[in-house]
Amino acid sequence: MKGVILAGGLGTRLRPLTLVTNKHLLPVYDKPMIYYPIECLLNAGIDDILIVTGGEHAGDFLKLLKNGKQLGVRHLEYAYQEGEGGIADALKLAEDFADGEKICVILGDNIIELNIRRAAADFYTQRSGAKLLLKEVPDPERFGVVRFEGEGDARRVAEIIEKPKSPPSNCAVIGVYFYDADVFGVCKDLKPSGRGELEITDVNNYYLQRGDLTHEILDGWWTDAGTFESLYRAADFVARGGANHSDQPARKEAAGAR
Ligand code: DAU
Repeated sequence: MKGVILAGGLGTRLRPLTLVTNKHLLPVYDKPMIYYPIECLLNAGIDDILIVTGGEHAGDFLKLLKNGKQLGVRHLEYAYQEGEGGIADALKLAEDFADGEKICVILGDNIIELNIRRAAADFYTQRSGAKLLLKEVPDPERFGVVRFEGEGDARRVAEIIEKPKSPPSNCAVIGVYFYDADVFGVCKDLKPSGRGELEITDVNNYYLQRGDLTHEILDGWWTDAGTFESLYRAADFVARGGANHSDQPARKEAAGAR
């Protein structure tokens, strides 16, 4: 499986910081933001990675990451997104890189405490379709949110709603997605949303309607870092205990902590 990190967009919510650099190169405690999704993929054994970026400061990624070897990336490619057409617009640029393989897509401003190894292993054996990771959050209206139907064992995902004013649950879809190669055809057929973007939520709802969408609940903390509040929170989480722990789930489960 290959990895795709989406690090385009203009980062307008972090101005004036993003007037002089790309959002994903800003520090989150002791590392540039982009290191965290890279480490997350490496932790899951994915070392063939494409970074999609854009804007005026795209060249700074090369200065920082070069060919990725110092971080342990076996193969690093870059693609350039014109404008800010949305997450699914940025994903379109990964089609040649993916070359028919399954992909794991991570938003460049998402940071997790533990790892996605179990989800990646499960998706390796999933015949087709897509897989999402979900997390309960106190502020679901900021995210793609799941509407569930049914109770207990019969509970299933009925719909995903992007930034709902009245969230039907507090279960957010985090910015780590697994897709089969059909995803590029799906992206091509999308129409821009009310905010003028090609929405990843529309891609996920397509797979849901096709009956080909699985999900897991993510263990450990998760945050985005695209607003001042979440950037500050991300740095605080990392400062307290680090991110991308590769061995933690087993230890924590063994200790009965989760
Ligand atoms: O963080 C998870 C959330 O990310 C999901 O729950 C939402 O469903 C999803 O739409 C997204 O919401 P945001 O509003 O937080 O996305 P944002 O516009 O901040 O973009 C997140 C990352 O995606 C950004 O760091 C870089 C990448 N991106 C975004 C856009 C709009 C691109 O590469 N190109 C783009 O044009």
